[in-house]
Amino acid sequence: MSSRDRATASPLFVPHKSDRRSARAAKEQFATARDQARGAARPDDRRRTTTLDPDLQPTYPAGGRPGPASARGGRLKLPAHRMTTAVASGAYPFLAEGGLGSQGIYVGQDVHAEAAFCYDPFALYGRLEGFTNPNILLAGVIGMGKSALAKSLALRAVAFGYRIYVPCDPKGEWTVVAQELGGQTISIGPGLPGRINPLDAPAKPYGADEREWANEVRKRRLLLLGSLAKTVLRRELHPMEHTALDIALDQVVAYHSAVGTTPLLGDVAYVLNSPDRLNAATGEPSGRLGRAAEDLAHALRRLIHGDLSGMFDAPSTVAFDPTAPMLSIDLSRLGGAGDDTGLVLAMTCASAWMEAALSDPRGGRRWVIYDEAWRVMRHSALLERMQSQWKLSRGLGIANMMVIHRLSDLLTAGDAGSRGRALAEGLLTDCSTRIIYRQEADQLASAAAVLGLTGVETQAVSALTKGRGLWKVAGRSFITQHLLHPRERELFDTDLRMAA
Ligand SMILES: Nc1ncnc2c1ncn2[C@@H]1O[C@H](COP(=O)(O)OP(=O)(O)O)[C@@H](O)[C@H]1O
Ligand SMILES: [Mg+2]
Repeated sequence: MSSRDRATASPLFVPHKSDRRSARAAKEQFATARDQARGAARPDDRRRTTTLDPDLQPTYPAGGRPGPASARGGRLKLPAHRMTTAVASGAYPFLAEGGLGSQGIYVGQDVHAEAAFCYDPFALYGRLEGFTNPNILLAGVIGMGKSALAKSLALRAVAFGYRIYVPCDPKGEWTVVAQELGGQTISIGPGLPGRINPLDAPAKPYGADEREWANEVRKRRLLLLGSLAKTVLRRELHPMEHTALDIALDQVVAYHSAVGTTPLLGDVAYVLNSPDRLNAATGEPSGRLGRAAEDLAHALRRLIHGDLSGMFDAPSTVAFDPTAPMLSIDLSRLGGAGDDTGLVLAMTCASAWMEAALSDPRGGRRWVIYDEAWRVMRHSALLERMQSQWKLSRGLGIANMMVIHRLSDLLTAGDAGSRGRALAEGLLTDCSTRIIYRQEADQLASAAAVLGLTGVETQAVSALTKGRGLWKVAGRSFITQHLLHPRERELFDTDLRMAA
């Protein structure tokens, strides 16, 4: 074998049987390279360099960890040993994750690999084994930067041509983001002019059959009315109540399509409150249907005369603009002290309205972000709607993101084996990406069990700092530090009121 056939990793490696001349040349080359490396300027002390984010300083100086823990006692002397890089990488035991590649939205730093971390659920789909859906679950205690991460992802995703939808924003913190991006915000609350009609029919998708589509719209409206009633009544509906809703909706729709207007919740409540009309429609002489609808009529009353009066019982004051980069629905004016039912009802109506608008598969790739979703986890009617929407997400090109506090929020959706629990667990399964920010100490065990975390991962989760999270992407795992641009920091600051 001639020396030319040998695989050498660098010109500094001298094969055994090379002639004297090439050996000498290599030696000289090595000496020059060594001198050059010695003479090169030492890297700056990183503590003194100014980073974009003054809070994010490296833990150790560039020289490495001080003290005996550094394993650089200075007394260790080993004979020089040369090898190819292929051999060296096999011998080196401290391996870090290779990362998800450079495609997608820049998030920050992969802490272990010290590399940039990029993420795009649409790019990973079909490329990463086990990555079956684009949905994301984000969990962590208050103030660790969950919303900041969601907002960053949203803001940066717009640059990739994605559109962002926030169907409910209970704190009103997404409005500035929408404004900055040239998007739209609809504020709903007492005394505000904004109105949303949750019974608005979604635009018929291109090429869909007329009759089939009318059926689909009817199904959606029934689902919505059912969810609203269930939320107020806090129970499943009886069969007779389903029938009553069916009939009331059909009567209202028949009337409105004759005059060319859109049905309103108030109209449905009115029919439910008219036992004679209901009974006549089924030919039910005993009047049972009218009586069965009494609870329903009272349940819907809250949306028409109660604390939410007017907001969801009038023609929509805004049209959905499919070209706007972002749309958020601000529900912060609803109050929400104590009882979350008002918020849940508003959220159900707002998300139904938005989901109808998002049902066009030609709408491009979109993100739907449910911030503060933990507040509604206990309401199985809303979970049910969310799940059906998530099942559709792949076909519609939608990535859903759900933000909660702890993983046990999912488990409190119902007792083991109950419907609420099954729904919540289904939502978790439908999230190929789980981002875990810091969890309370008493939550670690349940988080580890729900997500199947290893001991090392569990320990890492307990020690996470602001903006740092464990990303589980289809079984692979990363610790990632989310980096904010100064302008983003300004925009996303939710500590402002605490400081003032
Ligand atoms: N990666 C980060 N780097 C620096 N500051 C951050 C980071 N993430 C969040 N913050 C700041 O921390 C505060 C709380 O963040 P927020 O997203 O509202 O927390 P959460 O939604 O988890 O309650 C905000 O003022 C935000 O500006
Ligand atoms: Mg938040």
